[in-house]
Amino acid sequence: MKIGINNMENLNIEIMKITDLDGVYEVEKNSFENHWSKKSLEDDLKNEVSIYLVAKIYDKVVGYMGAWKIIDEAHITNIAVLKEYRGKKIGEALLKEMINTCKDNKINSMTLEVRVSNLVAQNLYKKFGFKFSGIRKEYYSDNKEDAIIMWNDLKVV
Ligand SMILES: CC(C)(COP(=O)(O)OP(=O)(O)OC[C@H]1O[C@@H](n2cnc3c(N)ncnc32)[C@H](O)[C@@H]1OP(=O)(O)O)[C@@H](O)C(=O)NCCC(=O)NCCS
Repeated sequence: MKIGINNMENLNIEIMKITDLDGVYEVEKNSFENHWSKKSLEDDLKNEVSIYLVAKIYDKVVGYMGAWKIIDEAHITNIAVLKEYRGKKIGEALLKEMINTCKDNKINSMTLEVRVSNLVAQNLYKKFGFKFSGIRKEYYSDNKEDAIIMWNDLKVV
């Protein structure tokens, strides 16, 4: 999908390829203190249930998103955009394309966990129909932070 937003005429959302791994790892390191290793990302990309998208400007990976397809549900594993590219609707473009990809794959609902403190990500998810459905206490091992569980019923969107 090619989209021009905020003067980024060359922003593309694409299915991730193994050649995007280094770029995705840079986004991951740039975005999370407790980030996935390159090996974990590579292994997950090769997992047959995984769906990975990358946001690229020309050939530079500026964001990525991952999900697992489990029967007719998608579990979002991650979404991240390089700090210097945030606030330019790249996260939104990734999530929109992931929702479309899920619908094309006969997925009926999507779910995720998000830190209670991560209001930016919660806002993004709410904007695209995700709803609060519960709390997982002390879900994050680094600081024992609770996770909010969100669901998006794609059949009613
Ligand atoms: C969450 C993240 C992917 C959003 O990507 P982004 O490209 O910066 O977001 P967008 O510009 O597409 O914004 C889309 C929506 O997100 C929300 N949002 C984005 N930035 C925000 C901010 N600074 N404050 C509040 N809400 C914000 C808004 O709802 C926004 O829609 P709006 O502009 O109509 O209000 C990005 O902030 C990021 O990489 N964060 C670090 C990694 C992370 O926390 N991932 C989520 C793990 S669950």
